[in-house]
Amino acid sequence: MRIAMIGTGYVGLVSGACFSEFGHSVTCVDLNAAVIERLKAGDIPIFEPGLDDLVARNAKAGRLTFTTDLTAGVRDADAVFIAVGTPSRRGDGHADLSYVYAAARQIAEAAPDTCVIVNKSTVPVGTANEVERIAREVAPGKAISVASNPEFLREGSAIEDFMRPDRVVCGVADDQARDVLKAIYRPLSLREVPILFTERATAEVIKYAANAFLAVKISFINEIADLCEKVGADVQGVAKGIGLDKRIGAKFLHPGPGYGGSCFPKDTLALLKTAEDNAVQLQIVAATVKVNDERKRAMADRIIAACGGSVEGKTIGILGLTFKPNTDDMRDAPSLVIIPALQDAGATVKAFDPEGMKAAAPLLPGVEMCEDAYAAIKGADAAVLLTEWNEFRALDLGRVRKQARSLVFFDLRNVYPVDEMSAYEINYMSVGRLSLN
Ligand code: UDX
Repeated sequence: MRIAMIGTGYVGLVSGACFSEFGHSVTCVDLNAAVIERLKAGDIPIFEPGLDDLVARNAKAGRLTFTTDLTAGVRDADAVFIAVGTPSRRGDGHADLSYVYAAARQIAEAAPDTCVIVNKSTVPVGTANEVERIAREVAPGKAISVASNPEFLREGSAIEDFMRPDRVVCGVADDQARDVLKAIYRPLSLREVPILFTERATAEVIKYAANAFLAVKISFINEIADLCEKVGADVQGVAKGIGLDKRIGAKFLHPGPGYGGSCFPKDTLALLKTAEDNAVQLQIVAATVKVNDERKRAMADRIIAACGGSVEGKTIGILGLTFKPNTDDMRDAPSLVIIPALQDAGATVKAFDPEGMKAAAPLLPGVEMCEDAYAAIKGADAAVLLTEWNEFRALDLGRVRKQARSLVFFDLRNVYPVDEMSAYEINYMSVGRLSLN
């Protein structure tokens, strides 16, 4: 199959590279000439494990090319994927679809007579219909089908998620779209991955409902963690105990400082907007968003309480700034709420993150970025483990103890076993588990 991928952001680049790995011929198109030049030179603008090798291998084989010229990229394509951004619109929280519609217009103009336009961007229900309307208006003589094929990639494990998904969802309205998507995903169906064909609107809702449901699980376990602390229970045990029930499932029951990232915060808000527009109440999703927003601020208050009720004049070392490990992405990271709250309360903040400091520095003025975890903790009154990077899972705690006097160690990701911490004379606190004192 010949595929054009419009947008070389996270989703577009990963999907394009993975399709080329399947053996398809893929042209990735982006307006941003600097990004395309970097990609042509093999320089990957995002941090995603394994992506550089995947791009290099397929580019070398001639199956993966990059261009700023949409018309040339689309001209021979069997399928054109739209993978442009759908940010939250300023002011009202609706997904901003202007990039999607602009891409649809240009694609329809440049497309061959027979072609399938596939939405991969996360878009509200009804977008496929609107893309189809645009295609008919721009190119009435062409046989253009429109499909919806949402992605479920997690940053940090995006390639694995693409190559071994739990399912692929394809929303189609005709056989042309169905046949092309079947051919594109044949390498996965051969491996028994369920390829689910649905109506387009159903596919669009699946994406939002999946993300909202996962966000519900996280906010739920975060509230249960608060309860566990008050009643002397251990939230890890509770998560395990409920997660073994297959109806509940073990995943996404890890408590922490609240979810962040490019999807959950944005998609839950967009889903609420769609519901509002259709006079439907999604009270569970609304509560999930509220719990998550309040949680980030509450984490700062708890750090302050752990420091004796005030951080005025104190130094706090932060381990991890990104919203999750294995990414340099700072979008909606809890650190962006927690750190300014600590600074407002009079603390000096030092930090270390293995990949995120470059992106974080302009967003977190006044934070001293350090060369490693130990430097961030040195001389600090409190250390806060905010993102569970692997290198923070086995810190030399004896060294940590030596570098900071009377250290409060607040582990917001429950990385360390509580009972082992007593050996280090560290005032260890975590989330939803018994503390040492
Ligand atoms: C998510 C979805 O998982 C993916 O299917 C969708 O396509 C995009 O959004 P991503 O944002 O990359 O992926 O990260 P994910 O691993 O899902 O984590 C999102 C946030 O939830 C992170 O801030 C993470 O720390 C938090 N989280 C996740 C928890 O606090 N507890 C958990 O148990 C799981």
